[in-house]
This record gives sequence, C-alpha cells and structure tokens, in this order.
Amino acid sequence: MAVESIEDKDPALNAIHVSIGYDQRLWREDLDNSRAHVTMLGEQEILSSEDVQSIKNGLDQIEEEISDGRFPFRDEYEDIHLNIEQRLTELIGPVGGKLHTGRSRNDQVATDLRLWVMRSTGPLAGALNELIHGLLEAARRELDRGTVLPFYTHLQRAQPVLLAHHLLAHVECFDRDFRRFHDALERVGECPLGAGAGAGSGFPINPHSSAEQLGFDRPCRNSLDAVAARDFVLEMLAALSIHMVHLSRLAEEFILWSSQEFGFVRLSDKVTTGSSIMPQKRNPDGAELARGKAGRVFGHLQAMLTTLKALPLAYNKDLQEDKESLFDSMDTVLLCQRVLIANVKEASFQKDRMRAAVESRTGYANATELADYLADRGMPFRDAHAAVRKLCDEARTENLKLDELPLERFQKIAPIVKEDVYQALTVEAAIAKRAAPMGTAPERVREALEEAEKRWM
Ligand code: ARG
Repeated sequence: MAVESIEDKDPALNAIHVSIGYDQRLWREDLDNSRAHVTMLGEQEILSSEDVQSIKNGLDQIEEEISDGRFPFRDEYEDIHLNIEQRLTELIGPVGGKLHTGRSRNDQVATDLRLWVMRSTGPLAGALNELIHGLLEAARRELDRGTVLPFYTHLQRAQPVLLAHHLLAHVECFDRDFRRFHDALERVGECPLGAGAGAGSGFPINPHSSAEQLGFDRPCRNSLDAVAARDFVLEMLAALSIHMVHLSRLAEEFILWSSQEFGFVRLSDKVTTGSSIMPQKRNPDGAELARGKAGRVFGHLQAMLTTLKALPLAYNKDLQEDKESLFDSMDTVLLCQRVLIANVKEASFQKDRMRAAVESRTGYANATELADYLADRGMPFRDAHAAVRKLCDEARTENLKLDELPLERFQKIAPIVKEDVYQALTVEAAIAKRAAPMGTAPERVREALEEAEKRWM
C-alpha cells in the first residue's frame, strides 16, 4: 500500500495526527464495514467472487489476530483504517489493495463511528435498566415500610411525601434518558458508506446493500453531508450529558443524605471509604466522583460543539477530534452508572431519621395542611396562608409544633376549626390527602409504581 512514510514527517505532525492509539477501539466496526463493502462490490460485479473471498478470509484472519492480541497496531499506518488495510495486504497480497475500491477513509470513518454509537447504546441501556430496577425495588420496599420524609424546596423542609414517591421521581428522569438515547438512534441510522471522499462514488456501487448489511435504516442522502456530519456525535454527547445531570442529582442526594446533618441513608462499607486519619469516617467517594465526573462529560460536549462550529464542508481533519470526546464520555457514563447502581443497592434508608425530620419541632411541614383545612372550609386560600404563616411564627417563638397548639388558637383564626384539625395535621393525613393524579398519596404511588414496573419489565 502506498502509505507515506512516517519518517519523512515532522515529529510534531506525527504526534498530532496519528490516531491509532485511540481509534483502534473501532476495529470491529472497521472490519464489519469492510466486509459489507466488499460483499457489495462482489454483488455489483465490481470485484470478482474470488477476490471478494480472499479479502474476506484476510479480514477474518485479522479479526483473530486482534482478538488474540497478536495484531501489530503500528503508528506508521496512522489510524485503524490504514492499519487494517496494510495488514490485509501483508496477509493476502496485492489483492488486499482492491478492498478500498469506491471507498474513502472519509466515508469509512463516519460509518465506523456511527456503527460504534449504535452498538454502544446496548450496554448504556442495559445499565440504565439495572439502575431503574434498583430504584423500583427500593421504592416497593419503602412503600411497604411506609417510609416518609419531607420533600425540599430551596433545601428547606416543605411537605411530607412517601420515600417511594421520591425514588420514583428519579425513575422518571432515567426513563426520559432512556428514550433520549433511543431517539438519537433514529438519526444515527443513516449510513455514509458510498459517499467516497465526499462527491460520491464513480463505481456502480449499491449503498443500500452495505447500509442494510450493517444494520443501518438507510443510506445517507447526500455524499458531502455523509462525510461532514457529526451531529450524531453531538446528539449522543448531549444525551450523555443530560444523563450525567440526572446521575449527579441522584449522587448528590446520597452524599447529602448520608451526612450526619441529614442521616437519611446509611451507605455500606462496600461503597464508602474511610479516612486515613479520622477513624469514624465513611465517605461517599463513589457518589462524589459520579457527581464530579459530570463536568468532564459536559466538557466533551462543549469541545465538540466548538470543533464543529463554522467548520466548512466537507471532511476536515478537525473531525478526528470526535472520537476521544465520545469514547471518554461513554466510558465515564458507564462507570458512573455502575457506581450508582451499587449505591442504590447498598443504601439503607433511615426511616426514623426521615420521620423525625418530617415531624421536627422547627420544620412546620404540616403548615400547608392547616391552610388547606381552612380553605376547604370556605376561607380564601390567600387569607388562610397569611393566618397560618403568622401562627407558625408564634408557635416557633413558643417552641411548639402546630399540632401542640390548643384548639382555641386555631379558632381565633377561624371559628370553623374543629377538633378534627389535629387529625388533618398528621403526616399520614397530609400524605393521604394528595390523592390527585401525580400526587404522593399511597394509592397513587402504588399505581405509579405498578405502572413503572410494567413499563420496565
Ligand atoms: N483518522 C481519520 C479520522 O478519524 C480518518 C479519516 C481521514 N481522512 C483523511 N482524508 N485524512 O477522521
């Protein structure tokens, strides 16, 4: 193969453009790409069936070499495409040089990378599935235990909810992430192979055949776009970034909740680390790193957006930057998913601590219940809100909870208040009352859980 010699190049050029160190990860895709391409060349009678067969045999041999760790990845052949093609010629002779008929590395690399994205969504979705199942299991367990906690706005205690309801909120985020990955595949599924360097092929190729063999939905419609487009990388990076947002929000709750200040969860030694000096410590390092690594994935998205911005058509070597961004993002997400799966598994939720937070002397998590009670009995909600706010302030100075105030104090606001107000102010009543769709009432949560379990069966 007429490859320019690496010796003649400035070492700085070699250092910047040789990509075999990271793009060897595309070897499976590249071999499959070549198999589909050469099959199509045979079908179209562009190559003889003997040539096709010997090229396929050579590709099989290369697959064995790579699988066994015997394949010589060499810098002098720059990238995975040239490394494989060079080896093919070494193995089967000059006929190996016919493989690249009607193909360019420009359509080849775009095809390999799309294929890699298509295939990598499998493990991604598998881990998401496992994470969601972990959350659903925890939700069922905590629903049966009747675990309640305050939900927070502004990180201030707001109102009582079921822990199962809270866990199902995370499930909803991950459900959307799952669908986002799936949606992105719709556009990844267009095959660039056949675009050549960018103008299309001068041979009577059939891009439908190679696209179909590789599992794409259809060929790309425009050869220039086929080699230049990387918005499928952007979409995947964006979906990965959004997923990292959600993973980091879950991670953050493990971190906050396992602090002494909250004490809502205990993480087992399996997912925490000790301190080298403070013997009492149980640090949530895994969750912290999952939170921290979000920045790195967002950075890759930003980097790729910047690389693509204002890049003229069609192929430019800048595009080679797509791979490290994508590979590292995918690896990071897969790792963080595993960490959070383990955290969910190793979490024991502290029912009593959560209950104490709901009922705390200083929290007034049932203030809305009192306002609703008054509004239910005819007082305009705004007036009820103002009166209860005042009452909370008074109770706070007296160091009393709302339900510790004597009935007369309520009746001073409105004579309609009866003894049953105390029942209305209980945690159970507050939760049971939120029975409208979406709400935290036990029967709504049970329905939501069963519906989610069915969806994720
Ligand atoms: N390694 C290159 C990349 O990743 C392959 C395509 C090179 N094409 C070219 N005309 N130099 O983008």
